[in-house]
Parts: sequence; structure tokens; C-alpha cells
Amino acid sequence: MTSTHPESGPAELAGLLRTQGDLTDPAWEQAFRRVPRGLFIPDAIWAPDARDATWLVRVERDDPYWSQVVYSDSAVATQADDGAPDGPGGRGRYVTSSASQPSLVLRMLDALDVGEDSRVLEIGTGTGFNAALLAERLGGPNVVTVEVDGQVAAHARERLAAAGLAPTVVVGDGARGAPSHGPFDRVIATVAAGPVPYAWVAQTRAGGVIVVPWGTPYASTGLLRLVVKEDGTASGPVIGRAGFMWLRQQRGLTGGWRTYVDTSAPVETSASTLDPDDILRMDSPARFAVGLRVPGLCQVDFHASDGSGEYTLWFYDGSGAWASLDYVPGAGEYVVEQHGERRLFDEVEAAYRWWERNGRPDCERFGATVTANGEHVWLDRPECVVS
Ligand SMILES: C[S@@+](CC[C@H](N)C(=O)[O-])C[C@H]1O[C@@H](n2cnc3c(N)ncnc32)[C@H](O)[C@@H]1O
Repeated sequence: MTSTHPESGPAELAGLLRTQGDLTDPAWEQAFRRVPRGLFIPDAIWAPDARDATWLVRVERDDPYWSQVVYSDSAVATQADDGAPDGPGGRGRYVTSSASQPSLVLRMLDALDVGEDSRVLEIGTGTGFNAALLAERLGGPNVVTVEVDGQVAAHARERLAAAGLAPTVVVGDGARGAPSHGPFDRVIATVAAGPVPYAWVAQTRAGGVIVVPWGTPYASTGLLRLVVKEDGTASGPVIGRAGFMWLRQQRGLTGGWRTYVDTSAPVETSASTLDPDDILRMDSPARFAVGLRVPGLCQVDFHASDGSGEYTLWFYDGSGAWASLDYVPGAGEYVVEQHGERRLFDEVEAAYRWWERNGRPDCERFGATVTANGEHVWLDRPECVVS
């Protein structure tokens, strides 16, 4: 649901965010009022096709939807399919760049906890709007932003110049950080990661903060807030939900599930009492936990159209292994089929039971420690490593 101020503009958007309780820091409010979001949004944006929401359609600036969505508390899809949409009639399939939802932008900036002269690295320039807010508050020389897509970066650079702001825009793989521009006091990733690239820790001063949407592509991501220590590691908890697109190289499997699931293959059949409703929604706590404990897991669901409430879950990992579970409301026990070397459903069930035994934790009970040798996921305390 989009909440829009009746008269749309930067001041009205700031007012709306203040009313919602998202804009509490006067310094960010000043930046928000000075930086017009609309300046950073391209003339053509993307919206779900009203006739078939599995596709995206292009919407031009003169369409009323454009200004309605730009000055509302909504994410704006600004690129489809890495800039090369090839669906019928020019339609796109996946959003690959966007201006994040303003209330989420503010939540992340608050979590970043900048000082007035903090030097900040942003990963995922996108439209340049977040970099503009940072540059407005901290000054252009204190802000470096990295974007993997050359066209997206060029648009952001041009818009930032039009706004009179001059952060450094680097085109490249943000997973490497910006080594020649560091060290930084803060790193903010506006693109999801898991594991967190160690380069970000290495380029941040001790005591510095890293804010990053984190988890696995199996579930909606949580917002991880790491503090960098003297020993060169960084650790911290998930502080809330923050659904984001993934770093390009961590996107997980692309392509339809049929690419990875051969339903004619021999299967092993069993039964399970696992309640699949708990792992149906992307933002369910169980799903966040299961994703962390079952590497590479993907899932799709198909629902019966006869009103019976029945559905089938398909699990796969790209290796050829797959599993399915047929849900029938009220049955209490469900038929499971598995194929391949990896018994994917057994792994899902073990992870789910672990989640139950540990009090059904929500994502905020998880955290991570990032070291030069890898990332450790923990529950409640850094000593309680779970994967
Ligand atoms: C949600 S958008 C960023 C929103 C942006 N901060 C803004 O204010 O508009 C995520 C961006 O991350 C970029 N991205 C994806 N993978 C990346 C990578 N490995 N390095 C740098 N940028 C990446 C995408 O191209 C996309 O533009």
C-alpha cells in the first residue's frame, strides 16, 4: 500500500515521513527537504503490468503514476533486467535498480549514526538519491559511492551534478569496496549481501559502523549493523527487516524453477508434519532461519485454483537435487518427494526443527561476525555460532 501526500513534492514527502515517525533527526530532515527525490528518478520507471503482474511495464514521466510514486513512501523501480528487458512489447521481468523506499532509507541512515565529518562509503549508487542525502549532510568529499552498472552510475553522476552535489561515484564491483578512497568511518550498502564482503570491514576504521541488508536469497533480508573492532573483525545484530535486491554476484539462481527441477526423475517418498505455512512467506521468521542453515536453498509455491487451499512447495538448489511437499489444509501430515544427492527437504526440516527448539526466533535474534576468514552467523550472542 502506497501512502502519498495529496500535494506531492520534497517538502510534502518530508512532512509525510515526519508524520509517520520516520523522520526524527533534524539534520536528515534538512537534507530531505533540500534534495528533491524527483530530480534523481529517470524519466522512465517500471511498474507491475496491471494485466499480468509477473511482468514490468515502462511508465513515462508524464504519466500521473510517475509523480504519485516518486513523492510517496514507496520504492521506485528504475531499471529492469540489467537495462536489457526483452519481454514481449518491451516488458521487463526483474527490477535490477531502484530508488529505495524513503522510510527505509531513513531507517538505514539513522542506523549508520554518522558524525558531522564521517567519511562514508555507499555500495549501490542506484539513482544517486541516497548519496545525495549523504553529500548534502556530510559534504561531497566525504562520500564515495560504488555502482556496478555503468549506465546507472552515469545517470546518478549527472543528477548529482544537477543538484550541485559532488560525491565520488565509482563504477565497479562494490563487493571490493573502494580501496583507493578509504579508510571510511561508515559503510552503507543499499544492496543486499550475504556473506558480507570482508573488503568493507578492511576499509573501515576500528569503531566504524557497517549497515547492510543481509541474509540469504531464500528469505527477505534483515538489516545487519556491524561494528568494526581493533582486531580487524566486525560483529553485530540484525536490527529489523529490510528487503533489498542482491549484489549482482550473489543474486542466487535466476531462471524459472523448471530449469532446475526434473519432475520425471526417480524420487524417494516420505511424510512430514512440518507446517509449511511457516515457510510460505518470504518475510516469515522460520524462513529467515532456514535460509541461513540450508545453503543455496530456493523455493517456489503453486496454489490450487479450486478454492481448496491446497498448494505444493518445490525446493531446489541448482545442482539437480529437488524436493516437493503437498499441503492439504487440516491434513497434519504431508507427502514429501525428494530427488538427488542432497536430501533438500530433510535439510529444510532439520533447520525448521532447530528453529522451533530455539524458541522460534525472529530475524532480530540473529547476528554475524565477519572476519578475514569468513562470516559466522550467530543466535543471541556472538559465542552461539549457528552456521
Ligand atoms: C536498491 S538500488 C540502490 C538505491 C540507491 N542507493 C538510491 O538511492 O537510489 C541497488 C543498486 O545496487 C547496484 N548493485 C548491484 N550489485 C552491485 C555491486 N556488486 N556493486 C555495486 N553496485 C551494485 C544495482 O545496480 C542497483 O543500482
